[in-house]
Amino acid sequence: MRRSSFGHNQERAAVLCGLGSWLPPRVVDNAEIAARLDTSDEWIRTRTGIRQRRIVEPGVTTSDLAVEAGQRALKSANVESVDFVILATTTPDRPCPATAPEVASRIGVGGAAAFDLNAVCTGFLYGLGTAAGLITGGMAERVLLIGADTFSTILDPNCRTSAAIFGDGAGAVVLRAGEPHELGAIGPFDLGSDGEGADLITVADRNSHFAMQGQKVFLRAITHMAKSAEAVLDKAAMRLRDVDKFVYHQANARILYGVADQLGQPRSKFVRNIDLVGNTAAASIPIALAAANEDRDLRVGHRVLLGAFGGGLTWGSTLLRWPDIDAL
Ligand code: UT7
Repeated sequence: MRRSSFGHNQERAAVLCGLGSWLPPRVVDNAEIAARLDTSDEWIRTRTGIRQRRIVEPGVTTSDLAVEAGQRALKSANVESVDFVILATTTPDRPCPATAPEVASRIGVGGAAAFDLNAVCTGFLYGLGTAAGLITGGMAERVLLIGADTFSTILDPNCRTSAAIFGDGAGAVVLRAGEPHELGAIGPFDLGSDGEGADLITVADRNSHFAMQGQKVFLRAITHMAKSAEAVLDKAAMRLRDVDKFVYHQANARILYGVADQLGQPRSKFVRNIDLVGNTAAASIPIALAAANEDRDLRVGHRVLLGAFGGGLTWGSTLLRWPDIDAL
């Protein structure tokens, strides 16, 4: 079979056909964090662009959010069965077994192959690449990919910086086998990692909290995401000006603007919903996609570049033309 580029063959493609998201109902605004930690609404807004985030109630787990988002994506795609369920998460319900099989059973697609994938905030992009590979390689006709995280459960309660940034949530997509020229066809991909930066974002062991060297991550995020955008556009023989919308992992509004400036692209092309949800890790891109579809910020036929950066260090980018889709 001829291959045009990494993970992308010319006869068969993975096509986005369902999209759903779910946020826990409890809203935590900046004032609530400032009431308990030494920070302020002003610091959080100007340094991150975040005004509020959603946080799970005690006892609510990643699988609970994943089930809600997964069900919505299946309904949006109007399908009742899939061959694989991939759960991108850094906060599985427990270290063993993986959370995905339980999620698959709870949403009525038990029997499908199901596994967790951990690429931290790049998890959804890695999941898209994996799903696309399974479909283009002929292993699957349909894949449900869920990004779900409950970072609030692993944060140091006394850390004002991580409390300011992270929120909980889930988003999911269904990908089906189709053809490369269809709306919704995904690819090519640029995915990468740099383990020399492994210590910059960590949870050291089961009794430790999440830790991040914010400044170092900030600078690397902008550089790697900008380079990765250029690499994926090269593979697709496209130019930056051909992209209508950039949908990036929502880590920090200043990172989004840094990437826009580095690429010489108007900031208005960058979808932004971090204000309302914070950094939801592996869930951030599908949540942003669902919100932008709802707001008609993403329109049918738009050429969309997706990008992410996270712990590992990991990064990735891919492209699609936006399909006619009802996100739930
Ligand atoms: O999700 C994928 C991976 N994650 C990311 O991409 C996140 C990347 N990093 C960031 O978004 C930013 O680095 C942070 C939002 C985490 C921090 O923002 P920053 O502008 O890099 O702040 P900083 O760590 O350089 O700290 C600047 C100052 C320090 O005070 P001094 O030393 O200048 O007096 C901090 O102690 O801000 C202080 N500070 C705070 N002040 C009030 C740090 N956190 C807070 C806070 N409230 N919450």
